[in-house]
Amino acid sequence: MSTPVAKYRQDYVAPAFTTSHIELDVVLDDHQTKVTAVLDIKQLRVGEPLHLDGDKSLKLVELLVDGTPYTDYNRDDEGLTINGIGSCQLTIINEIDPKNNTALEGLYKSGNAFCTQCEAEGFRRITFYQDRPDVLATYTTRVEADKAGYPFLLSNGNKIESGELDSGRHWVRWQDPFPKPSYLFALVAGDFDKLTDSFKTRSGRDVALEIFVDKGHLNRAHHAMASLKKAMAWDESRFSLEYDLDIYMVVAVDFFNMGAMENKGLNVFNSKYVLASPDTATDTDYMGIESVIGHEYFHNWTGDRVTCRDWFQLSLKEGLTVFRDQEFSSDLNSRGVERINNVRILRSHQFAEDEGPMAHPIRPEKVIEMNNFYTLTVYEKGAEVIRMMHTLLGEEKFQAGMALYFERHDGQAVTCDDFVQAMEDASGIDLGLFRRWYSQSGTPQLTVKDHYDPSTQCYELTLTQMTPSTADQSEKLPLHIPVDIELLSADGTPITLKGAESQRNNSVLNLTDVKQTFVFESVASKPTPCILQQFSAPVKLFYDYSDEQLLLIIQKATDEFCRWDALQQLIHKYVRLNVTAYQCQEKLTVPEAFVDVLRAALLDPELDPAFTALLFNLPSTRELIELFDCADIDAIEAVRFWLQTYIAEQLEDEVSALITKATGIDKNELESEQIGWRSLKAQLLKYAAFRNEALIKREYNQAQTMTMTLAALTSANQAQLACRDELMRDFEQKWQHDGLVMDKWFTLQGTYPGNDVLERVKTLMNHPSFSLSNPNRTRSLIGSFCEGNPVAFHREDGSGYEFLSDILRQLNESNPQVAARLVTPLIQFGRLTKNHQSKIKEVLTSLADMDNISRDLYEKIDKALGQFA
Ligand code: TRP
Ligand code: ZN
Repeated sequence: MSTPVAKYRQDYVAPAFTTSHIELDVVLDDHQTKVTAVLDIKQLRVGEPLHLDGDKSLKLVELLVDGTPYTDYNRDDEGLTINGIGSCQLTIINEIDPKNNTALEGLYKSGNAFCTQCEAEGFRRITFYQDRPDVLATYTTRVEADKAGYPFLLSNGNKIESGELDSGRHWVRWQDPFPKPSYLFALVAGDFDKLTDSFKTRSGRDVALEIFVDKGHLNRAHHAMASLKKAMAWDESRFSLEYDLDIYMVVAVDFFNMGAMENKGLNVFNSKYVLASPDTATDTDYMGIESVIGHEYFHNWTGDRVTCRDWFQLSLKEGLTVFRDQEFSSDLNSRGVERINNVRILRSHQFAEDEGPMAHPIRPEKVIEMNNFYTLTVYEKGAEVIRMMHTLLGEEKFQAGMALYFERHDGQAVTCDDFVQAMEDASGIDLGLFRRWYSQSGTPQLTVKDHYDPSTQCYELTLTQMTPSTADQSEKLPLHIPVDIELLSADGTPITLKGAESQRNNSVLNLTDVKQTFVFESVASKPTPCILQQFSAPVKLFYDYSDEQLLLIIQKATDEFCRWDALQQLIHKYVRLNVTAYQCQEKLTVPEAFVDVLRAALLDPELDPAFTALLFNLPSTRELIELFDCADIDAIEAVRFWLQTYIAEQLEDEVSALITKATGIDKNELESEQIGWRSLKAQLLKYAAFRNEALIKREYNQAQTMTMTLAALTSANQAQLACRDELMRDFEQKWQHDGLVMDKWFTLQGTYPGNDVLERVKTLMNHPSFSLSNPNRTRSLIGSFCEGNPVAFHREDGSGYEFLSDILRQLNESNPQVAARLVTPLIQFGRLTKNHQSKIKEVLTSLADMDNISRDLYEKIDKALGQFA
């Protein structure tokens, strides 16, 4: 294999040609699909050949220039270079083999249906084309297939023509009037059940809404449809954005590498993010569907109407669209709960990415395989960067910035700079320094020191920032960090901020230097600072809180995030102390006040069950590993387990009283009140499992919803109850025919804390419901073991690493994208012991030696091995 080459953001060159229109004709066949593309080529610069991307798997049949066969071209593994042409009409005929396409990129079969996935560079697996996002063309697509097997033939835009052929075949022609890059192309053919509805836009146009699902699953599509209509209405009211075509289609498929894809007018979804009924899906699944349906819908403007100039700009559409879907969920549900859940993901996964070999800024500088950059950094940190601009500008100016962005760039392929420029121009707020968030990688550390002078009643906060160097970038510069604060007096009442006016905007301090002091006046006594309200910046905070201060914040702070985070800090502190105690074989303890504050939360007469559930959801072992430079995983797990059982014992009565109170909440209803109570009960069952096995069995047997069924099963699994295997068998009997439901079961198997879990996982790979060719199944069983069961995965003998390595060898050939996602726990080893690291190095070295290693795995493993040098 030749060493894959990297591309650099700085090397961007506008194309010498563009394609303004494409007439595509796809004659579907399992192994010999015939693709005819007629391209209107426009020359933009003279003296250069036309380069068309084309995968080496494409079989070129014919190439014509203005209708005449043409031979002055070169074909290599990357595509075609056509010499001696200017503006012309280019006709290309080629063949592809969808049924053997296991990578699920380009045109492939998901079960009996044909479907496509073109982002990022999948269109080149369908035909030869300028497969880059700055080439925008209008598409007309004719799809032909056997009518009995494929009654529905779909593509982007509006259906303009259809017809029947002899021999039982039929065809449909689609036209998409909006110029789009090839990554937004989609084609689907199959037999589905179709849920139909409509939406009247605020300017009065009727839009047909269609959701296509596997036959027999129509009753599971209603939540997705309701979510879609909410998303359409929300984008009108909050962002003044209206849908632009007459039809919006969503197709659910079982074989899909990611969550969903925003193809213009024809979204393709992983069925996990469409299908839900109360007996098959949990409340979390329902929320996930609402958010992903929203996300893909919001892309219609932030992604499709205004797209990326090149793939280095991916966060232009993804960071912004994640911000939009987070706001959608926050406006519809609980803002505090939504924020806390997002921060947990950011801290546990994105911060880890920053510390590992794949560290990159939200706008990467260097890429080998683009699929490797659909990352937590580009998506989640990218959304944080948009959120910080929103914090700095406020809603009104931010919306003015959005309006200017669309006014300037509708129909264009643009850069992250273009976006920030629109925000800056519309608001008049200087974002010069702020732009550094786009080019600098790593997690900034924010250290806060304070000083109170009773004689002057002045309170000083001194903020210092420092970003540790990362694998990709050693020198770091100061950033513009918005720090939203609240000061609490001794009894917990908020203090009105006076002073430091020029350095802040209301409660948001503008930290722009390495070190800055903010002085507040007329402060009657030493306050407790709540720092980073709503997590106003993606940084690590260091402030030396006393237990008393944290307890005050937990009980009195205005901001829910700060209250939750103060508890996390308290937990972190006692996990650290107890890990040391455990290593010295000393007794594990927490102060009584710690248990008291949890008790108070349960007894609070104004208890918000969803928020209390978050308080009782202990950080995962994986999250706790981040607290240690060199993590003793067994000790961390033991301490976490002890803490869970200790709280269970101390609060046994209060927990069981609340579980009893939480009755009548299991009635299939999606009201937030009910969801909140179910989530609290699910958390409490995890504690109750250690005290009362009969209760767990009863809860399992009486559960009315998948939410409560899974809650009971999860607590039995985690506590390794005697009834665990029996309940698991019962669930398996009931659901073995249903892959999506079995994913929950496979996830429990992968995260089972028993010693023999790896043997069990290996055996389950032969389970009739399991298949390594299905990414959902693979992630549920294998992914949950490797990422969600750190003790077993990181066993000293290296058996977990060997196991993953075997899987990666198989997936390297069949599905490199899934392989490259699964490799994550093997490349983020910075906090592991020397022994673990050397075992990992062995495994990675041998993987790197595969002679057919994919670009996806090569890029990650090569970088990871570089860390050992
Ligand atoms: N653009 C998609 C989204 O964020 C992401 C996506 C879906 C994707 N499928 C993909 C990215 C396959 C890379 C490869 O909604
Ligand atoms: Zn997206």
